[in-house]
Amino acid sequence: MAIGFAFLWFFFFTLLSCSVSIAKIGPAFPSSLIRPEQLSQLATKNQLYETVYFTQILDHFNFNPQSYHTFQQRYLINDSFWGGAHKNAPIFVYTGNEGDIEWFAQNTGFMFETAPDFKALLVFIEHRFYGKSMPFGGNKDIAYTNASTLGYLSSTQALADYATLITDLKRNLTATESPVIVFGGSYGGMLAAWFRLKYPHITIGALASSSPILHFLNVTSPYSFNNIISHDFRSESESCYKVIKGSWQQIEDTANQQGGLDVLRKSFRICKNADVSFLESWLHTALTYTAMTDYPTPSNFLNPLPAYPVKQMCKAIDDPSTGNDTFAKLYGAANIYYNSSGSATCFQIDDNSDPHGLSGWGWQACTEMIMPTGGNTEESIFPASEWHYEDRASSCKYMFDIEPRPNWITTEFGGKDIYRALKRFGSNIIFFNGLRDPWSGGGVLKNISKSIVAIVANEGAHHVDLRFSSKEDTEWLKDVRKQEVNIIKTWISEYYSDSEYFPS
Ligand SMILES: *[C@@H]1O[C@H](CO)[C@@H](O)[C@H](O)[C@H]1NC(C)=O
Ligand SMILES: *[C@@H]1O[C@H](CO)[C@@H](O)[C@H](O)[C@H]1NC(C)=O
Ligand SMILES: *[C@@H]1O[C@H](CO)[C@@H](O)[C@H](O)[C@H]1NC(C)=O
Ligand SMILES: *[C@@H]1O[C@H](CO)[C@@H](O)[C@H](O)[C@H]1NC(C)=O
Ligand SMILES: *[C@@H]1O[C@H](CO)[C@@H](O)[C@H](O)[C@H]1NC(C)=O
Ligand SMILES: *[C@@H]1O[C@H](CO)[C@@H](O)[C@H](O)[C@H]1NC(C)=O
Ligand SMILES: *[C@@H]1O[C@H](CO)[C@@H](O)[C@H](O)[C@H]1NC(C)=O
Repeated sequence: MAIGFAFLWFFFFTLLSCSVSIAKIGPAFPSSLIRPEQLSQLATKNQLYETVYFTQILDHFNFNPQSYHTFQQRYLINDSFWGGAHKNAPIFVYTGNEGDIEWFAQNTGFMFETAPDFKALLVFIEHRFYGKSMPFGGNKDIAYTNASTLGYLSSTQALADYATLITDLKRNLTATESPVIVFGGSYGGMLAAWFRLKYPHITIGALASSSPILHFLNVTSPYSFNNIISHDFRSESESCYKVIKGSWQQIEDTANQQGGLDVLRKSFRICKNADVSFLESWLHTALTYTAMTDYPTPSNFLNPLPAYPVKQMCKAIDDPSTGNDTFAKLYGAANIYYNSSGSATCFQIDDNSDPHGLSGWGWQACTEMIMPTGGNTEESIFPASEWHYEDRASSCKYMFDIEPRPNWITTEFGGKDIYRALKRFGSNIIFFNGLRDPWSGGGVLKNISKSIVAIVANEGAHHVDLRFSSKEDTEWLKDVRKQEVNIIKTWISEYYSDSEYFPS
């Protein structure tokens, strides 16, 4: 407990200590800002799956005695739609990301909604070191002790877990001939794409939604992420962009005045006085996650939000009744992200609760997942700043006494010149990206070959395609999903005809 908490606290604190330049250690994948009450709302939903545990091996890659230790890996399964083993009906597997698998399953409506048509078995596998899938006796405090235990938390181990579990499950179901399709969003999408490339004998294809597999050092610019956020707001309204851009200096100036912190506290309805860097980070978070989840329908992924939340924020900022009061404008914008339920009496800006158990990302972001996102050009909506690998390395040294391996991911999975590398290697991957998503700058945005396909939605945000459908869905979104379904159908029918030609 102590370590987990200290880490979160430090994580929050480091972001702030580098003045206004908000150098996040981890990329802004789902934050720690989801309120616990949202979880219980989800939990009371109808049952979507059964929960099962599988005895998984600690270390797939060497044979020393400790590597034979095991842990209980959680997976969720729904066989209500499955055509069955005798029909070789397909198996849809979600390759879990950096958090509680139930949260990802409950946000991946695409699999539930397409399963009846495909007669698919649904399986959602939790990533090791997250949720209930804790090595070292299932105790998070022990699993997160230090590098000696956390050392087993890596993407390659996770992929090997998925391969082992899927193979075993198919054997248990006598479904060895059923084709497996893997699905994932965000880091889970990266895992899905890599799984298809590394384990083509276990999965016939991958839908990798908003998976920034190119967001690594010297492949994608560190300015890309914030450029996209800036563009999202600027394309809504120039004045909105200007107000936000100008506000950072005004906040700093006010904080430096006698009684300034009190002015800020009142302007932003903050519960209790906190360092100004907390306020900046709090606003930064609201803008970043609103851009990420700028969905065309109301949503409740990170926080409850109205449809087109960036537009709503800019509407609050451009609201004539706020006159020239920058803080009133910014408060109005923050209120969209933090108080769309209308139930907040004041804002707890130093809240570091982690209801979805995402804190393990700090370790991943300090070892292999060096994803440069913190740079800001002069045009950025945030204060101009550079991203330096050395800053990340020194935080990681401090937090975990560890040195990152910034080139490992691109060595292991590729990334540089990916179009050339995959053009004549690999097949059956869909890369979906919505261009309003700040992560899309590190996504695959061009078709690589006939079967490694990029689907790009100008108006889309972070893995919007995987979300539950709703009556208000736009035509382009329905169209994206239709394309994805058709491509997956092709993979499956090709698999069945190959199986006739090459029976096992
Ligand atoms: C599978 O999901 C559907 C909702 O899509 C639900 O109605 C059904 O009860 C679930 N089945 C199981 C076995 O959990
Ligand atoms: C991790 O903690 C354990 C128990 O306190 C200790 O024995 C071990 O040496 C530590 N490992 C590292 C790499 O610090
Ligand atoms: C397969 O069955 C064995 C024996 O019941 C069980 O121990 C194992 O956990 C099962 N595998 C999976 C993936 O559920
Ligand atoms: C990235 O590129 C810079 C400049 O081209 C080079 O100095 C640096 O060594 C490269 N870094 C890595 C990790 O390859
Ligand atoms: C902003 O409003 C205040 C109070 O209404 C006024 O005194 C000030 O001149 C205005 N400033 C600008 C730049 O319009
Ligand atoms: C949250 O919204 C409600 C309803 O609009 C409002 O009454 C309340 O003051 C807001 N809370 C904060 C902290 O601004
Ligand atoms: C990739 O090819 C498909 C047709 O196979 C097309 O629908 C899609 O628009 C192409 N993607 C891009 C980014 O050009």
